[in-house]
Amino acid sequence: CGIVGYTGFQDAYEIVINGLRRLEYRGYDSAGIVLEGSDNKLEVEKTKGKVEDLVNISKQLKGTANVGMGHTRWATHGVPSDRNSHPHLSNNGKIALVHNGIIENYDTIKTMLSEKGFTFQSETDTEVLVNLIQYFMDLNPEIDFPTAVRYALNEVYGAYAITVLHEDHPGVLVVGRLGSPLAIGIGEKEYFIASDASPFVEFTKEAIYLEEGHMATISLENGVDIRTINDNSKIEPEIQELKLSLEQIEKGGYEHFMLKEIFEQPKSIHDTMRGRLIVEEGVIKMAGIWDHVEKFKNANRIIIIACGTSWHAGLIGEYLIEEYARIPVEVEYASEFRYRNPIITDKDVVIAISQSGETADTMAALKLAKERGAFIYGICNVVDSSIARITDAGSYTHAGPEIGVASTKAFTAQLTILTLIAFKLGKHNGNLGNAEFMSLIAELEAIPKKVEEVLSATHELTQDIAKNFVKATNFLYLGRGYNYPAALEGALKLKEISYIHAEGYPAAEMKHGPIALIDENMPIVIIAPKKGHYDKIVSNVQEIKARKGKVIAVVNKGDRQVSEMADYVIEIPETSECFSPIIASVPLQLLAYYIAVYRGANVDQPRNLAKSVTVE
Ligand code: G6P
Repeated sequence: CGIVGYTGFQDAYEIVINGLRRLEYRGYDSAGIVLEGSDNKLEVEKTKGKVEDLVNISKQLKGTANVGMGHTRWATHGVPSDRNSHPHLSNNGKIALVHNGIIENYDTIKTMLSEKGFTFQSETDTEVLVNLIQYFMDLNPEIDFPTAVRYALNEVYGAYAITVLHEDHPGVLVVGRLGSPLAIGIGEKEYFIASDASPFVEFTKEAIYLEEGHMATISLENGVDIRTINDNSKIEPEIQELKLSLEQIEKGGYEHFMLKEIFEQPKSIHDTMRGRLIVEEGVIKMAGIWDHVEKFKNANRIIIIACGTSWHAGLIGEYLIEEYARIPVEVEYASEFRYRNPIITDKDVVIAISQSGETADTMAALKLAKERGAFIYGICNVVDSSIARITDAGSYTHAGPEIGVASTKAFTAQLTILTLIAFKLGKHNGNLGNAEFMSLIAELEAIPKKVEEVLSATHELTQDIAKNFVKATNFLYLGRGYNYPAALEGALKLKEISYIHAEGYPAAEMKHGPIALIDENMPIVIIAPKKGHYDKIVSNVQEIKARKGKVIAVVNKGDRQVSEMADYVIEIPETSECFSPIIASVPLQLLAYYIAVYRGANVDQPRNLAKSVTVE
């Protein structure tokens, strides 16, 4: 979910609505706004649907207030509906609250409040929290508003970022955070609140990222007062300079963020390597690795934990690190790792990969690994995100903000970082000889150029191919070696945005199941570069053609064998095998994108998905 808040001199309606538009990638099944009008009465509008649906029912609020907040929702408790949308009001109608996260013990609190006569309009956990605040204020009328919020937060378990307004305390916003992110923008005579800085970056470059377990009371009179939630200790705010620009978070002429981000990849991969890969000197500079290189060198094993696309990057990381650094690697879904009592020792290095740096499962898995003594390393895209802050060390991917829900440039940036890490460790521990190291890094430096070539060579082609598969109901994606995870990622891209069922598989495993599905209606994307078990793939393509499957082959330029059998051919430049997932992913992203566009799907905001999953 996304939260926006404002107190200042501008039209709060405009700021909140525009902020919600920027945060809509975080959730978009319902949206709501509350403003503190001139008579201090709270005016609420909320609806199931998108921010634009909210605009349609709330235009009358424009220009009526200088204080307000809004919410865009990704449902956890209660179906998307007008009633379940945020903001939620307390029973006396005086307190409004927006919430991102989950209150796990909401049921117990709801029962307690119901016994005291509170009633509930929605099925949400949020409505329980707002009434708990009212409960504390009713219990002791002397208590001030922030204290009541603090008491309430001390009663709840779970994950949250909240913002609260009270009719009797005009101009005051109370915010709190545990597990879900919240940033406070500091302007001249105005303050902004948001789940990330994008809603306010055009107004101020100064921000405070609220820490875990902290809350803040924000008003023009008293500025930002930060306290710990558990014992009310005062905290000195740490103001940071934002590096984000407005241009970075807008579509820049592309129809969708996803397409923009696909096309940004030559630059984002380059940015990931910038200052790190110095081919002339024959070095990879990565302070995060270098400062702890003995930890890596002496590690029993490296465990990579992640979710979604980042997990696919992790699988490729396993191939890379095992091949070049010869350190054993295991890759796990964070959600499985955290609940299965894994064996972890202080000889393990745990690497978390996360674009957002906020994924709840990844965060919890990391905490567990840390508690058990492992050295924890983060590969995050969002600077200063929660994961980036709890890790012992890390490397940012520097791909720039990724807004499209389906991850593209963050994925190739993650692969780039993992490649750098593998080469660096391999060079250091002597498993990667100097000559090979030099030739690999020279090749890596040229990857952005190759990605650019692939983009221009396959942009139209993938559109033509996509037109033939608009009505498909299933897809198979196959690859071997490094391109097996690339096949998983290709399939994920397609299913996420087009809603066509797609499965990724190691090509050789096809005969143990998926082959039963193959007939003339089954499209099969097969990644078959020259380097990487090509001959074996040729046999797999023969097996598919013998069953009349439709083959879309991703091959190297000048390929003959697979191309002759394939129904559609996508050519990519030749690389060493370890780089081929980066290059091969690009046309697969485009293919998924165009199939989804031709099916009329909302590519940037696919149904039921969210960019940043801060619930487990
Ligand atoms: C969500 C997103 C995916 C992403 C996954 C992990 O499901 O929609 O694109 O891969 O979360 O997110 P993270 O931010 O940890 O990489």
